Amino acid sequence: MEKFIIEGGKPLKGEIKVSGSKNATLPILAATLLTDGICEIRNVPRLRDTMTMCKLLRSLGKTVEMTPQKVTISGSVKNHIADYKLVSTMRGSFCVLGPLLAKLGKAKVSMPGGCVIGVRPIDLHMKGIMSLGVKADIDAGYVLAQTNKLKGTQMYLGGTFGSSVLATANVMMAAVLAHGETVIESAACEPEVEDLGNFLSAMGAKIQGHGTPRIVINGVRKLNGTSYKMGSDRIEAGTFLLLAAAAKSDILVKEANYTHLLALIDKLHSIGVEVTRDGSDVRVKVKKTLRPANIVTHPHPGFPTDLQAQYMALMAITPGVSIITDRVFPDRFMHIAELNRMGAQIRRDAGVAIIEGVKQLYGAPVMASDLRASAALVIAGLVSRGKTEIHRIYHLDRGYEDLDGKLSGIGAKVYREKE
Ligand code: EPU
Repeated sequence: MEKFIIEGGKPLKGEIKVSGSKNATLPILAATLLTDGICEIRNVPRLRDTMTMCKLLRSLGKTVEMTPQKVTISGSVKNHIADYKLVSTMRGSFCVLGPLLAKLGKAKVSMPGGCVIGVRPIDLHMKGIMSLGVKADIDAGYVLAQTNKLKGTQMYLGGTFGSSVLATANVMMAAVLAHGETVIESAACEPEVEDLGNFLSAMGAKIQGHGTPRIVINGVRKLNGTSYKMGSDRIEAGTFLLLAAAAKSDILVKEANYTHLLALIDKLHSIGVEVTRDGSDVRVKVKKTLRPANIVTHPHPGFPTDLQAQYMALMAITPGVSIITDRVFPDRFMHIAELNRMGAQIRRDAGVAIIEGVKQLYGAPVMASDLRASAALVIAGLVSRGKTEIHRIYHLDRGYEDLDGKLSGIGAKVYREKE
């Protein structure tokens, strides 16, 4: 295992480039199961999670070749069992369920289980595929599903906490090869769903409305291979915007999609951060003292839950009081205790985090608990006085490509050491 050592307080400046989107890549890799043709996907981020998905595709019979430029997937799916070992390490793997059902008419997929950010049920996935004519059961930790024929239908896919990104993806991938028309009402509107819809269209699927709450799909008999370039990761970009704001730096975030980040940028403007679009890049500048502001996370286009922890790190050093509510994952607050170890003043009261911003954080040994909590600790470490050690950084390697290299490029002192 490795840890990050960060010597805090170094001035940060310059350009930092955003990689391809992790959460868009995972369902798109799963969608390649829908064809026997060759798919070439460029700008795939080199991450533990994308590697895990490639391993899973191989275990299902596909041939996966990787070069620094592209991932090429060919061959036919031969196996319908997605093993516990691969699915349990990454919830994204659960979205092989839809394509396996569409291609083979049966699937045995390990349940993903809960994780530190909350319970994470699968009822919406089950409801969605079952309404397409699938018989599904849960046995010994696996979803056992089969169908003679997938049939299009109209369904409502909203849940207690709003729409579900991966449930929408699973249903879309099953419906593209179903008989007739499927209408998904209350579909997730995240850019990752839009990307998946674009990829499926490039494969020959008939799909409309992806990126809106109403997706209409007309099933086709067969899909072809295609070539596709992944767009940039909005959460990595947002993390860099928040880092620039916390470090009071002037940083150009290259390949950041401004439109995907409107809720964050609007909030940053309201607290006094200058954020401007510069072609396909976004520039962040801080010229004055920042003000605290509350956030409530919501499904897209609301403030993303995946930037909540990083925003908390910013509020921790913004004098005044702010309140954070996570309406997507109400228990996603593991980072509070670790930020407090660095001198932050944050307490949890029922479903909210109350932050009393302090003038200075201090380096400390801390533990990464999940991907975005780890990113919050990196931001805190970079603006702290003294040395921070972040243990268990394998969480970071799941979702941030070459983070230490990228941060060193803007002046940070950060390096890895073996535990
Ligand atoms: N939910 C249900 N039932 C379901 C599925 C979800 O009630 O069957 C609830 C969840 O418990 C949660 C809400 O619906 O309260 C939204 O969860 P969603 O299903 O949208 O999450 P997901 O699709 O499993 C993806 C991302 C997460 C991101 C969420 C929300 C991937 C691989 N993961 O998860 O990303 O937080 O959407 O935007 O795309 C991350 O990258 O760090 C990460 C956790």
